[in-house]
Amino acid sequence: MTTTLTLNSGVTLPALGLGVFQSSPEETAAAVETALRGGYRHIDTAAAYGNERQVGEGLRVSSVPRDEVVIETKVWATDFGYDETLHAFDKSSRKLGLEQIDILILHQQAWNLFDRTIAAYKALETLLADGRVRAIGVSNFDERALDRLFDETDVVPALNQVELHPYHSQPALQAFHREHGILTQAWSPIGGITFYPGPWGDERRSVLEDPALGGIAEAHGKSPAQIALAWHLQQGRQVIPKSTNPGRIAQNFDVFDITLSDAELATIDGLDTGSPSGPAPARDFDKKSLFPIPED
Ligand code: A2P
Repeated sequence: MTTTLTLNSGVTLPALGLGVFQSSPEETAAAVETALRGGYRHIDTAAAYGNERQVGEGLRVSSVPRDEVVIETKVWATDFGYDETLHAFDKSSRKLGLEQIDILILHQQAWNLFDRTIAAYKALETLLADGRVRAIGVSNFDERALDRLFDETDVVPALNQVELHPYHSQPALQAFHREHGILTQAWSPIGGITFYPGPWGDERRSVLEDPALGGIAEAHGKSPAQIALAWHLQQGRQVIPKSTNPGRIAQNFDVFDITLSDAELATIDGLDTGSPSGPAPARDFDKKSLFPIPED
């Protein structure tokens, strides 16, 4: 199974990285260090997660050479706008302790701020052109927002990071990405997102307790989480499972020997509910209601 993907910018990216969304600042440095020592070479964070500083710290304590690791972070909507986004790069760069950020993406689409979203993306293009970032992209964009971006900017995003797991596999968006050479990066790849009412209203069903996934896991002698990750990897998606638990960080990386049959892949594809479990791409943002990213 492929362990490395190549972005449309030519930058290579490990197919599996560590996510740190909802990793507390206290836990993040240790999780990053454990992951890097265990073979991970990609960490996905965001200014809005409040743990960029600890990601940088984990990277430094791990002793893994900087140039072997891909660090990805995101610009929050309160920092959209050309100058604001250049400044957001400076803030993230300072917190991470890195002069160059490997992948910088816009955290969300924001229709009522779309002119600022376009200006923010133009700032990413500037950062890419002068080498302060190695690849640029977006997160939580739908086809309409991507089309608008294509119309008004020059660089096709290297990736779009979206909610994607067996209960929300977004086949149409994936096809759109393929058509435009955009990598699909899956957030909540094992369906860990549980804090919003999902497709079943307030009833919460866990992907990891799904009987069909469980059956496949048993047949392979692997956990449901590992099977979900293999399903992504075999279909060419990039994944960033979050864990702060050393055993689960190791388990999630131990997936490259799994080969699912076409029938098993189709069974997992068939679990799609067509609805997100997490926040849908936000179409409107009241800038005032979003928390700002502090300088430090
Ligand atoms: P923890 O950090 O305690 O391991 P996702 O990235 O899909 O949103 O999933 C993240 C959630 O799933 C977190 O709550 C994480 O908790 C948990 N998790 C991560 N890896 C595994 C695993 N291999 N098995 C079960 N739960 C996991």
